[in-house]
Amino acid sequence: MKAINIHNRPTDRHLRGLDQSRFGDLCQETATPFMILRTEKIRGQLNRLRRAIPRTEVFYAVKANNHQAIIQTLTEENGRFDISSAAELKQITSAGGRADQVIHSNPIKSRLEFDTAVETGVTTFVVDNPDELEKFTRYEGRAGVLLRFKTKAGGSVVDLSYKFGAERSDLPALLDRIRDMKIPFRGFCFHVGSQCLDCSKYTAAIADAGQLIALAEERGLITEILDIGGGFPIEYTDGVPDIETIGAAIMTALNQYIDPRVRVVCEPGRYISGEAATLIVSVIGKAVRDGRKWYYIDDGLYGSFSGRLFDQCSYQILTNRNTKWEKAVLAGPTCDSFDVIYRDCLMPPLDIGDILIFPTMGAYCSVSATEFNGLGSARVIPVDW
Ligand SMILES: Cc1ncc(COP(=O)(O)O)c(C=O)c1O
Repeated sequence: MKAINIHNRPTDRHLRGLDQSRFGDLCQETATPFMILRTEKIRGQLNRLRRAIPRTEVFYAVKANNHQAIIQTLTEENGRFDISSAAELKQITSAGGRADQVIHSNPIKSRLEFDTAVETGVTTFVVDNPDELEKFTRYEGRAGVLLRFKTKAGGSVVDLSYKFGAERSDLPALLDRIRDMKIPFRGFCFHVGSQCLDCSKYTAAIADAGQLIALAEERGLITEILDIGGGFPIEYTDGVPDIETIGAAIMTALNQYIDPRVRVVCEPGRYISGEAATLIVSVIGKAVRDGRKWYYIDDGLYGSFSGRLFDQCSYQILTNRNTKWEKAVLAGPTCDSFDVIYRDCLMPPLDIGDILIFPTMGAYCSVSATEFNGLGSARVIPVDW
């Protein structure tokens, strides 16, 4: 297993611009575990992404973190949303967002989910297979389709073309079926995989999209939208290409392969919310087992660290302790032996009551947390600094 960076003198860089004095005050007065969610960071990431890829409209992928403060902040910034369910849709409409400006990106929808979205006013749905297309019959032109195609594997930490995406060879028949069923055709979409570290994955997929747009046009289907998905990376324990570098590569490919009349959208999740949340936990117990120190903290794999499993993620650890480091095990608070966050990390000796800080826990952490053992999940505290 990869070694984890532990910083025992957290600098501003590690804390990602968090106001250290206000942060210190909040830590003094709040019971752990809790997460600070910075809405200013959400705004900053949205606007930086908009500047980096000026040809795209940003639809935030709510699945990354559906906290209402994020949805509200993005709505105020005229942001749009990509949803997976009726529950996410409800959060958007209750923040004042418009259903007809939402993309429903779940390629498989139950009838109830589909009906609810159409009745609420969603008009754009992602599909990647013929059986899903048949479900459109009952909506008589009220539901339009974005066809998702598979991208080549590799280059990303989380592969999203394993479960979804039509093969290139299936696309002509799917396009014919869309035309014959008279389903409003919106265009194409893809996802290069989450935490994508290789810009060429975007440029190759955009080149493919250029060919598919021509293939659709031969069938009389005009592409309105190209949705280039999410995948934009953030820094956890290792460096990543910055968004300006990725954006420049995407812009070059868009200008080369995609007609300027096509509306280009993206669906970032992690990039918008990942750096906006910082988790604060306490050491609640310790033991020595087989000669190795074990520290038990009040959040674990069944809580905010669920991203260790589902998102294949390693989070940076910050501590104020500054003594000699030794190998240790970091475990969660439940009675399950499986609930071990890091089996082999270098830690300074810790005491019960010590605090550990985990920056960059705003994406795919709280959303997949459970309340296993009745322990609840970390309280999320939105702040505007
Ligand atoms: C369809 C779709 N769009 C967007 C996203 C967001 O991806 P990311 O968080 O990598 O930007 C995902 C992530 O699973 C997704 O499945």
